[in-house]
Amino acid sequence: MPPPLTYASYLDLENLFTLQKPRSSPPEHDAQVDILETMTPSSFSSFRDRLETASGFQSVQFREIEFALGYKRESTVRYLKPDFPGYDRLQQLLRERSVVDHFYDFLAMRGAQIPTDLKDRDVTKPNEPDERVQEQILQLYKNSPECSILFELMTDFDEGLQEWRYRHIKLVERTIGAKKGTGGSPGVPFLKESLFKPVFHDLWAIRHEL
Ligand code: HEM
Repeated sequence: MPPPLTYASYLDLENLFTLQKPRSSPPEHDAQVDILETMTPSSFSSFRDRLETASGFQSVQFREIEFALGYKRESTVRYLKPDFPGYDRLQQLLRERSVVDHFYDFLAMRGAQIPTDLKDRDVTKPNEPDERVQEQILQLYKNSPECSILFELMTDFDEGLQEWRYRHIKLVERTIGAKKGTGGSPGVPFLKESLFKPVFHDLWAIRHEL
């Protein structure tokens, strides 16, 4: 029996990536969500079955971004088999310190007091908001203009990620409505769980105090 279909094998990603030779620097965006949104539910249904269980859920690249940032969801790896391309890399990232952990180090270098329980936290778990860190960030916002610029840029990045989640959910909602995902999730309700969940909780939590 042939191996089960995956997004990577369906799209022949290994080969596809070798075809990308951007000529612009930096690369131009290609507005793919706008284009996909022109597909009606009935035209998508006409070939959706052929995706079998393949799904964006299997995007190792997306999960790598989430894990590297600190948005760790071990449950998402459990859906992948150990021989899935990229599985080992995800397991490794799950156990590595994330951008948020390195951010704590950076804050400490700038004189912030980072509680020991945060320095020694279980890095396989998603990062959580922490009022003690928020207090320290507020001080840096007031006393260090260059830190404030960094915090604003990090907030921009986080907002962009949430905007992507929102665009994707709307694309999914208008294309498949209440149908389940091909990857086996409930579809839109599953995707909504991560909508509005930031990576840099502490930066969002203090904005009314600035
Ligand atoms: C008509 C177009 C699309 C539909 C109907 C759709 C549907 C879905 C659904 C239902 C899920 C939840 C997992 C599942 O059960 O399958 C999902 C996840 C995902 N999709 Fe899409 N998708 C579409 C287009 C795209 C595009 C264009 C991208 C990327 C460029 C993408 C990337 C992802 C990623 C990364 C996930 C995992 C999200 C997470 O775990 O939070 N999808 N998609």
